[in-house]
Amino acid sequence: MLDQFGRNITYLRLSVTERCQLRCTYCRVEEGICPKAKELSPAEYERIVRACMQLGIQKVRLTGGEPLLRKDILEIVERIAALEGLQDLSMTTNAQMLPGKAQLLKQAGLRRLNISLDSLKPEVFHELTGGDIQPVLQGMEEGVEAGLLPLKLNVVLVRGINDGEVDNFIALTRENPIDVRFIELMPIGDNGENTARRISNQEVMSARPYLQPLPARYPGQPSSDYQVPGYRGRVGFISPISHQFCADCNRIRVMSDGTLRPCLGVDREIPLSSALAQDDEALREAIQTAIFKKPAAHRFESCTFAERNMSRIGG
Ligand code: GTP
Ligand code: 5AD
Ligand code: SF4
Repeated sequence: MLDQFGRNITYLRLSVTERCQLRCTYCRVEEGICPKAKELSPAEYERIVRACMQLGIQKVRLTGGEPLLRKDILEIVERIAALEGLQDLSMTTNAQMLPGKAQLLKQAGLRRLNISLDSLKPEVFHELTGGDIQPVLQGMEEGVEAGLLPLKLNVVLVRGINDGEVDNFIALTRENPIDVRFIELMPIGDNGENTARRISNQEVMSARPYLQPLPARYPGQPSSDYQVPGYRGRVGFISPISHQFCADCNRIRVMSDGTLRPCLGVDREIPLSSALAQDDEALREAIQTAIFKKPAAHRFESCTFAERNMSRIGG
């Protein structure tokens, strides 16, 4: 359906948990695995997705926190994949628990994967995230083998930490059929110190004039895509700060407890809990109103968003 600014909303990002075993410094700040926030059941997520599809959603991305921490993640994938008419079902994961699961996810109906990987150096990866790089590299390989394609790597650049690795990431696209996407750090949650280290993608791109622009894979795609001539994979730039893409935005978010967030960069949220307790018609109406009122654009430049960290919203 169209929102109040005439944008066609076709993409739902559904967070299935706020829990995450990593501690990416720009994403979350709490120590230890945080207390479990309310999570809905696979059947409830299915109901929400069905209602959204009746309003024009065609693509669903499962996010978190870390979606693979859900013990019932395969059931969630299966239920959503079985909904007739869905055109795309993907997942964004930190891949810590991906080894051994890529094939199962594919069989359950997942089409493709985006993996967060901010450094190719084990010690820097550990410093940034608290995690181990080995399962990420293995999971990436298994994802490609399982045909979860196009497989995309997300790299958030932080000055002085991983900006020296841009060319190593681009080199990965030489032999591998993957997209590497550089993401500008967004001021969401309590990540002020990191925000000061944000790198503009315009800086990264202008230093590499050999990158050839490619057409987008789909309309409203946040990344601008490029390729090194002759390489197999793509290099993408997601630049919400230096090149705002809100005018083409096609997405809404629903968080693990069933709260709808129409825009990543505006702290306005609509709980669906009371509509969920009623019939499907009530649920559809609540979602419809929320979509219609989606804000025009993010407000990153005027303030930071301390209410929720990215790990709670799902990116
Ligand atoms: P594709 O469907 O593969 O294009 O995925 P995606 O890029 O939409 O999803 P992913 O979860 O991989 O997100 C990559 C980065 O883009 C994350 O840092 C997200 O926070 C950011 N991003 C995704 N959608 C939006 C958006 O609507 N607005 C802003 N500002 N950033 C977004
Ligand atoms: N700015 C930009 N991207 C972020 N991500 C998490 N926090 C931020 C932030 N503050 C990215 C993660 C993941 C994706 C869903 O969002 O790296 O790949
Ligand atoms: Fe859409 Fe809001 Fe993201 Fe802009 S910041 S692209 S309006 S979700």
